Amino acid sequence: MKLSTPLLASALLTPATAQLHALARKAGLLYFGAATDTPGQRERAPYPDSYPQYDAIFENNDEFGQTTPTNGQKWLFAEPEPRLFNFTEGDVVADLARSQGKLLRCHALVWHSQLAPWVEETEWTAEALRDAITRHIRAVAGYYRGRCYAWDVVNEALDEDGTYRKSVFYNVLGEEYIKLAFATAAEVDPGAKLYYNDYGIERPDSVKTAGAIRLVKMLQDAGLRIDGVGMQAHLHADNHPSADDLIATSEQYAKLVKEVAFTELDVRIKMPVNETKLEWQADCYQKVVEACVKVKACVGITVWDFYDPFSWVPDTFPGQGASLLWFEDFTKHPAYDRMVDTFKKLIRDKPGCKDKGKGKGKGKGRGRRTLAARGE
Ligand code: XIL
Repeated sequence: MKLSTPLLASALLTPATAQLHALARKAGLLYFGAATDTPGQRERAPYPDSYPQYDAIFENNDEFGQTTPTNGQKWLFAEPEPRLFNFTEGDVVADLARSQGKLLRCHALVWHSQLAPWVEETEWTAEALRDAITRHIRAVAGYYRGRCYAWDVVNEALDEDGTYRKSVFYNVLGEEYIKLAFATAAEVDPGAKLYYNDYGIERPDSVKTAGAIRLVKMLQDAGLRIDGVGMQAHLHADNHPSADDLIATSEQYAKLVKEVAFTELDVRIKMPVNETKLEWQADCYQKVVEACVKVKACVGITVWDFYDPFSWVPDTFPGQGASLLWFEDFTKHPAYDRMVDTFKKLIRDKPGCKDKGKGKGKGKGRGRRTLAARGE
């Protein structure tokens, strides 16, 4: 066969790197995704020159088949003043997901942080706060109804010791606010998977993991629907969980809920970067891939953006950074290839997987994780 020159040229230009989502699918996951934010805002503001290269990586669905808005759907942006709803920022990423055919995880309906100031400034009666929560969820989840594969309904409701965080919501309503949020979200968008999402709930024996399990049971005892637990997985290169840890934790959640996911993965390094620390980081990313593939209930992995300059880490944790997969100059961290190799190995090793025992089985490497429940 003779290849025409333009075809050959485009084949040569296709980045050989674009494969995390494609491999995740072969390994049985529903997605590998990257969160992203509004151009020109926050961490992205100082780097407009990098957008074309960034966008080219992001838009390749073989690389990232799912996305989450890092900020736009949060209360601060979605309801900055009482009853004044604004979906401009949320729509930026939701529309990207739609136009590019990516799965959309929606984030986050009730959270103590990036809350509109008026919510914390108001002297609430229980009734008025209940109304405000219900109204907020009806408006926001209602606006995006049918477009979210999953919603992080309640985010970070636990303190470091596993007890409830003393947020404005908790201080006025106690755990009732969590029930109210899940009940309202279930009513407003019946097709979205409803998640509890938190950080520091990735290790099997942590008090916060125990707290997350209590929280899930509390909802289920009240007869409410919760479909998933999201482990944010903001991890540390120099002290990270093992694959066995992540598997054990995920399996604890999976006894209670249908799904788990790694929702905000990044692996921060204490600066400066060196080869050893990048190796620890690669090892950590590898463990997350291994755990998610090995746990049947784990639907996918989302990195909390993929380009170091756009990460929230350096601003929030001074002295730490380089937590994502592409350096500022668009070369890749070793963690990227490590994940690729890990996916490939797990695909080869997996019983019933496409590439394993050619000719045997149904020829589909996935199937256990599907979009069926979303109605797509
Ligand atoms: C971060 C965003 O990435 C930043 O841009 C923003 O300034 C602060 O929030 N847990 C969460 C995410 O659930 O929403 C946070 O995202 C990171 C921690």
